[in-house]
Amino acid sequence: MAGVISQLKQAPADGWKFVQDRLAKIDFFDETKADLQKESPWYQLGGIYYLYWMVVIISGVILVAIYLPTTSQAFDSIISFSENKLGMILRGLHKYAGDGMIIAATLRVYRMYFNAEYKNKGEFTFVLSIILLLAAMYSGLTGYLLIWNQRAFWATKIFATFPMYLDITPKYWYWPWEGIVVENTWFLPNAIGAVTKMIGDYTHQGMTTSQILLGGSSIGQATMTRFYSLHFTISLILLVVTELYFYKNRFKRLNLRMPAILIMLGMVLITAIMIPAETGSRANPEVTPLPILSDWYFLALYQMLRYMDPYWATIWTVGIPVITIGLAFLDWGEERNMWKRPIFTMVGIAAAVEFLVFSAMIVMNKSNIETDPPFWFGHMILFMGIGQFWHWGQYQQQLPLRAWVYGCALFGVWYLFFWHVFAADWLMVWFNSFSGGALPEGWNPANLYWSMLWAAFSIGQVVLAEILIMVDSRRKTRQEMAEAGA
Ligand code: HEM
Repeated sequence: MAGVISQLKQAPADGWKFVQDRLAKIDFFDETKADLQKESPWYQLGGIYYLYWMVVIISGVILVAIYLPTTSQAFDSIISFSENKLGMILRGLHKYAGDGMIIAATLRVYRMYFNAEYKNKGEFTFVLSIILLLAAMYSGLTGYLLIWNQRAFWATKIFATFPMYLDITPKYWYWPWEGIVVENTWFLPNAIGAVTKMIGDYTHQGMTTSQILLGGSSIGQATMTRFYSLHFTISLILLVVTELYFYKNRFKRLNLRMPAILIMLGMVLITAIMIPAETGSRANPEVTPLPILSDWYFLALYQMLRYMDPYWATIWTVGIPVITIGLAFLDWGEERNMWKRPIFTMVGIAAAVEFLVFSAMIVMNKSNIETDPPFWFGHMILFMGIGQFWHWGQYQQQLPLRAWVYGCALFGVWYLFFWHVFAADWLMVWFNSFSGGALPEGWNPANLYWSMLWAAFSIGQVVLAEILIMVDSRRKTRQEMAEAGA
């Protein structure tokens, strides 16, 4: 007991030491890794982010002088300075340097993840790398509304109204103790529905968030003013924080050698000249352009959210960065070689594949909410299954393997059960026999086959795992007996 009390007394001091150690190792733009650039160009990514940020800020300040931030004048002001060659290049520099920041930040997050740079007190720097990525993405998102063309108007409308889903009463919602049976449903979706309805009724979190973003109940001048101020406030806050950091630590800001700087600047300038920033057509609230596509870095998320219940999709937009940060705190141990951390490596590879596949699917406007999801789940199971068996191959640890494959199988069978045993027509007929309902609306047998395949695949993993574990323990027993006999 005395031990527990002294540990509790020590906890605040340990906690503060934990924070201080990590703050001391903070790195914004790879300024503490400049010497590693000789080994690998991947360590130039922080410097590239900083360089492009500076291009965005300088071009942005000039744009502020000529851009008119009102819904009636914005589009015309952009048209007029795009007619001038220099104006067009300036816009291009601003837009593509912004894209360059997002590409550099994304690759840097992947580099830090695969190299486990969050180990050895690097967690805060990893979190910061995600914040820098989100800062660039949301700057880009607020930026392209400022054009006030059709794509910007409608993509922003979706983005700003999305949070409303948090308040929408789900189709089915009943507390289990109410004992109400509704055709085609069962207690769990109802209970989830009831919880989300209760949160929505009390907090109006969705409406409130949406109104903060829109500056009212519809998209208009207030939205533009908000997005405009948010647009450069993000950079302003970042600039103040980083300048204080550089002032305190006396680090060099831009850790790139001249050839790299010239190449990076050359690339964005040539792009700005060769591919003028899109102007598109003037925003028209009466006409909905289809498909409505956001800027490239949000495409994969858009596609993924199509497969989800809107409520959970809204939660998921926050869930992704939180889970990524969580992984950094889950990956214990000293090992930093990505080929010796198979589970985490496969999670990272799965995420990269999903980003590319989902982006391609939405650009090709290919999605089927009925048949696609099992592919998605199957792909996740496969990648993480490989990670788990690979981990087993390397470390022969039974627990991680068993924990995963049984977890997989449980979820596999649950998914099947959820979709088809409980939703199967014979059960529906039986279920409806005392509620007088018809067959479930929009029920699609196609899902059955994928779910059965996926559940069988999950169970297959269990069988394979148990065989591997059994063969291994037999091998160990024989070895021990041989050594005992020797
Ligand atoms: C991370 C930082 C930033 C990013 C990623 C970013 C990105 C963007 C993007 C993608 C656009 C739409 C460009 C277009 O297609 O026309 C835009 C517009 C604009 N940005 Fe930024 N921006 C950033 C910071 C700034 C800053 C710091 C300023 C001002 C100091 C600024 C001023 C403007 C202005 C005035 C426009 C509207 C004019 C136009 O569309 O060309 N931006 N920004």
